[in-house]
Amino acid sequence: MPRKPFIAANWKMYKTPAQAQDFFKGFLSLVANHQRDEIVVCPSFTSISVAIAAATGSGVAIGAQNMHFAEEGAYTGETSALMLRAIGATHVILGHSERRQYFAETDDLINKKLKTALQHHLIPIVCVGEVLAEREAGKTDEVLLRQTRGVLAGIAAADAAPIVIAYEPVWAIGTGKTATPQIASEAHGVVRAEVAQLLGREVAESLRILYGGSVKPDNATALMAEAEIDGALVGGASLDPQSFAKIVHY
Ligand code: PGA
Repeated sequence: MPRKPFIAANWKMYKTPAQAQDFFKGFLSLVANHQRDEIVVCPSFTSISVAIAAATGSGVAIGAQNMHFAEEGAYTGETSALMLRAIGATHVILGHSERRQYFAETDDLINKKLKTALQHHLIPIVCVGEVLAEREAGKTDEVLLRQTRGVLAGIAAADAAPIVIAYEPVWAIGTGKTATPQIASEAHGVVRAEVAQLLGREVAESLRILYGGSVKPDNATALMAEAEIDGALVGGASLDPQSFAKIVHY
């Protein structure tokens, strides 16, 4: 079965609920009846409910950008998978490089979150990717293997089907420097081969691997033309309805 392409918006810490509502007013008509790709928008926590209400019936799914691994507890400032499910979120981004960099998230922590997300039927979009110094030192593959093994540790092949992986080279995020389709494709190949080792060929072949890092309307087509690239995780260019719709229509 061919892998259904998957285009996700990561709004990061942008947009109030009113601004989120405005986005959907513009965006939904631009992607009405769009069947080819799965479309997911991940606003900040305070806009998730508004986004769900706005997107109901549209085929656009709504996710969170992070969650805690525990179901509940004394974790001030955190949000659980149960809470996200209760308001109707269906997806969650885990281990984004900004979470790794600014909030000290490790592969171990991301692995715990991934297990919780799967238990609670949230579709996880798990991020991996090297920083510039690692790429320049020729360590990209090593980093990707370490992260892939770390985040997937202890996950059974039978439970792995919902997992989506996003390859986001940190040097390409928000910098306007996109990985070339070839660079992205090679990295995806490394991740997919490792997933085949860990979870078997069947899981690896149906796994969607998204590319993220300065995806824009004018480079989305070339990236999506690569057989190894199954979708995009879009930051900056997802904030504007026109621009994100153009990417969806790559
Ligand atoms: P960018 O962000 O598209 O603004 O580079 C991508 C991401 O961080 O998910």
